[in-house]
Amino acid sequence: MATFANRDPQACVYDSFRSTIAQLLVDSLSTKLTLEQAYDGVDYGKKGEDFTVALPRFRLSGKVEDLGKKVIDKAASVVASVSQDRAFLHFRLKSDVVAKGVLQQVSGSLFLHPKVLSTLTDIDTFSYGKNKSGEGKRIIIEYSSPNIAKSFHVGHLRSTIIGAFLANLYKACGWDVISMNYLGDWGTQFGLIATGFSKYGSQEELEKDAIKHLFDVYVKVNADAKDNPQVKADAAAWFKRMEDGEEDALKHWREWRELSIKKYKEEYARLNVSFDVYTGESEVSNEYMESALKRLEEKGIIEASYGAKLVDLEKHKLGKAVVRKKDGTSIYLTRDIGGAEQRYDKYKFDKMIYVISAQQDLHMAQFTKVMQLLEYPWAKDIQHVNYGLVLGMSTRKGTVVFLDQIIKEAGNVMHEQMMKNEEKYRGVENPEYTSQELGITGVKIQDMTAKRINNYTFTWDRMTSFEGDTGPYLQYAHVRLSSIARKNPDLLPLPPTDSIDVTLLVSTDDLAAQHARAIIFLLGTYPDVVRTALQSQEPSGVVTFCFRLSHAISTAWETVIVKGEKNRDKAVARLWMYECAREVLAAAMRLLGLRPLDRM
Ligand code: ARG
Repeated sequence: MATFANRDPQACVYDSFRSTIAQLLVDSLSTKLTLEQAYDGVDYGKKGEDFTVALPRFRLSGKVEDLGKKVIDKAASVVASVSQDRAFLHFRLKSDVVAKGVLQQVSGSLFLHPKVLSTLTDIDTFSYGKNKSGEGKRIIIEYSSPNIAKSFHVGHLRSTIIGAFLANLYKACGWDVISMNYLGDWGTQFGLIATGFSKYGSQEELEKDAIKHLFDVYVKVNADAKDNPQVKADAAAWFKRMEDGEEDALKHWREWRELSIKKYKEEYARLNVSFDVYTGESEVSNEYMESALKRLEEKGIIEASYGAKLVDLEKHKLGKAVVRKKDGTSIYLTRDIGGAEQRYDKYKFDKMIYVISAQQDLHMAQFTKVMQLLEYPWAKDIQHVNYGLVLGMSTRKGTVVFLDQIIKEAGNVMHEQMMKNEEKYRGVENPEYTSQELGITGVKIQDMTAKRINNYTFTWDRMTSFEGDTGPYLQYAHVRLSSIARKNPDLLPLPPTDSIDVTLLVSTDDLAAQHARAIIFLLGTYPDVVRTALQSQEPSGVVTFCFRLSHAISTAWETVIVKGEKNRDKAVARLWMYECAREVLAAAMRLLGLRPLDRM
């Protein structure tokens, strides 16, 4: 998001170019135009143009033709060229200035544009693409949040993928991020499992794979409960004892929970995901729920109904919702209400995000509305980040119930695909690891390609292909970039970047220079890609950036050669560019939660 308010030339060299163009507009058009307005009107250009300005947006008097001419007359000293197409002005910056500026910034050097020199305050370097807009602020991002002893469905997988991305993104923007997993670890199903465990449970199985075993026990005893009311009654009684805090009834539950978390941690690690905090519905304290209910009663928005309590949100078109059951046990919504204040007291967050499927939109709307009605000043800082359904994800053995089935299947499908090319396959160093990573990349990319809210149909074919915009294609692009340094050891280490002659790279009048410039221009947009992603909380823009960069590299590959280039200085400049491209592609991939591969 390139706005005047959040411009940050230290992090994004284009911010200084935009400032330059904005200044030019102010100087040539009108003193009524502020630098700020001008700056916000400088957009990225399409197809070969660097920046474009739509003149009408400034609402200045005079014809656009005349306004444009005024700018063009003054532009020569600042930009390489400017052209007018009706109401639009298209600017092209000087190629060597762009190249030097962008590549230096990627390489971690500070770009000292004369326009920004005086505004520099903090001169420490930080990795390219990051910014400090969130410094001093803390965010809780709650995501994944599966239910113990129930299935881990694709909705949970999406929450995991999108949530991990958001955690990376907020970190990249300087926030203090707390990744939180809010387990469904409470409720009558634990009474059921306790009832069935003596009949169906096995300590050995439990320790081997708690997630699977508890699920199995749950399925069996649940079937029993359908025919036998006694089982149901026993389960309810057991859960009541748990709610009353009887240590005897809690002991087993505690072990199940711990072993499940242990197993989850292993699986998350394979997905390159980790949490700072494992909490769960069981950890929401009664005091917080009680006090929230009391406050709701004081505000007169609670009504009694057959012994239960409802909160009335009809006025807000959100219906009525139960907050207290007849038997006094708590429910999901009430736990979210009480839990939010408990979290605030503990973490004093500046923002809290819940990454939960759009299927729970009503629940989340009710929850956030209640928080507002309770007039907590921080209620406005709570946000639901939602997403659509995944259709058709199943393994060849059937429906997916566990996360590790998805991970395994992704690896297997990819492995088979790789074996189809025998010759290439023989060259792969660690096929198990590689196919696993490629598989996971495929799943994640497929998930993050479109806007979150869209439903999509998952297919294994679409993710295993090395062609088209797939995860493996991205990994392949990165592997290819990694190979350049390996293949050109004689050019390494690169000389000090100041002494690299970028005119050899971009200022000649040939196809190679055009391709190189296109790559470099894209690299320069990356800090903006990150800022835009933060605004929209969408991974899709980052995915699009990765593919655009990969395409630009693939287009350049045959022309912008390093090995075989006779002019050594030119080869060095190109290698520098490819190294920068690798850095940026890897950074973007890591932001998406991927592990970039160096070989495959
Ligand atoms: N465990 C819940 C489920 O699987 C998701 C929890 C979402 N988080 C929340 N604070 N309500 O549906």
